[in-house]
Amino acid sequence: MSGRVLVTGGAGFIGVNLIPLLVRAGHAVRILDTLVPQVHGHLPHAGLCWLGATAGVEFRRGSVGSSSDLSSALEDVETVVHLAAETGTGQSMYEINHYCHENVQATALLMDQIVNGHAPRVKRVILASSRSVYGEGTYVRPDKPDAPRITPPSRNLEALQAGMWEPVCPTSGAELTAIPTSEDDRTAPASIYAATKLMQEDLVRIGCSAAGIGYAILRLQNVYGEGQSLSNPYTGILSIFSTRIRRGLELPVFEDGLESRDFVHVSDVSAAFAAAVAAAKAADTVINVGSGVATPVICIARALSRAFGKPEKVRVTGQYRLGDIRHNMADISRLGTVLDLAPKVSLDEGLSRFVQWVQTQPLPEDRLGEANAELVTRGMMG
Ligand SMILES: NC(=O)c1ccc[n+]([C@@H]2O[C@H](COP(=O)([O-])OP(=O)(O)OC[C@H]3O[C@@H](n4cnc5c(N)ncnc54)[C@H](O)[C@@H]3O)[C@@H](O)[C@H]2O)c1
Repeated sequence: MSGRVLVTGGAGFIGVNLIPLLVRAGHAVRILDTLVPQVHGHLPHAGLCWLGATAGVEFRRGSVGSSSDLSSALEDVETVVHLAAETGTGQSMYEINHYCHENVQATALLMDQIVNGHAPRVKRVILASSRSVYGEGTYVRPDKPDAPRITPPSRNLEALQAGMWEPVCPTSGAELTAIPTSEDDRTAPASIYAATKLMQEDLVRIGCSAAGIGYAILRLQNVYGEGQSLSNPYTGILSIFSTRIRRGLELPVFEDGLESRDFVHVSDVSAAFAAAVAAAKAADTVINVGSGVATPVICIARALSRAFGKPEKVRVTGQYRLGDIRHNMADISRLGTVLDLAPKVSLDEGLSRFVQWVQTQPLPEDRLGEANAELVTRGMMG
């Protein structure tokens, strides 16, 4: 049997897709998860029965932020896959203390226990980080192809209010073109969520080298697919849209609809985590995990409607949210060179698998209006 793996937040979207791969690879798996109601709905909940019923998987309900829950969960563990986090970009902009506690402080506690020898068998920590650490990401000047790559600053309220959606060159104001962001490009978080993910990265990187153990940091793009929370109105554009499509509601698309995201199917993401657990050479590296393709949000809204076989009720609202970035597309060459992986699931296939799964799930309430109203009240959405 391979070493025991602790998966924090293992009952969440990525965890439920990863755990069968770890079990198949011969690992004993322990999950530590608080079962946050925003993600899992109100408990008990039939969808979580598998937690206690899968051979080789031990479920513990508890928090990474609790010293006693964590120290007992770390017993006999060789690898920690740290997925537990609060994940709503917009929500993080006003629940700052909570996001820092759940994401930063809990990771600090994890590293504290490892560095201070309370988990002597741990050899590696693998962190789920996020492309959000790059902020707007990487751009070039189309008029100056030889000029250096630019990470423009976050778009400010004034620019968003004026409908100036595209980031511009901070020095000349020139037009820019987005290019794939690589792991060596500058980090510049634009939201509190992103800042907590970057802080998690630093804690893991520095803590692991202090403890003399390895780490791998996977910067995930927009992950979608079977198992994603359909009840969380604060994150997961495809789950929010899927509920609205099933309810016959229109799909409001922010800005001019041309903002883009790199959508990667969860099976490609879980394959990357499983490979990182298995591959010693992934130690001490940051790796982008994405599809490498930028898809405009208006296109994903239309494609998802078609995948449901429903009319495309898409409305471009011209609204914006502070903390959102404009474009996103990962340079995924390191995923290939270090983990020997390339994304396998095309967007069409992924959407079709997602839609088939969604249709087997209870129809959740549509809470998008409620989530947006919280942002509008606080002046963070216009
Ligand atoms: N899904 C994406 O698109 C995406 C993109 C980039 C990064 N990530 C990162 O991947 C990780 C997993 O994301 P996900 O999509 O599976 O999210 P998710 O919300 O579905 O799962 C997170 C899990 O963590 C648990 N949790 C939260 N706080 C906890 C705590 N203090 N202790 C124990 N458990 C706790 C929740 O109950 C939930 O089961 C997160 O760190 C997230 O920041 C996700």
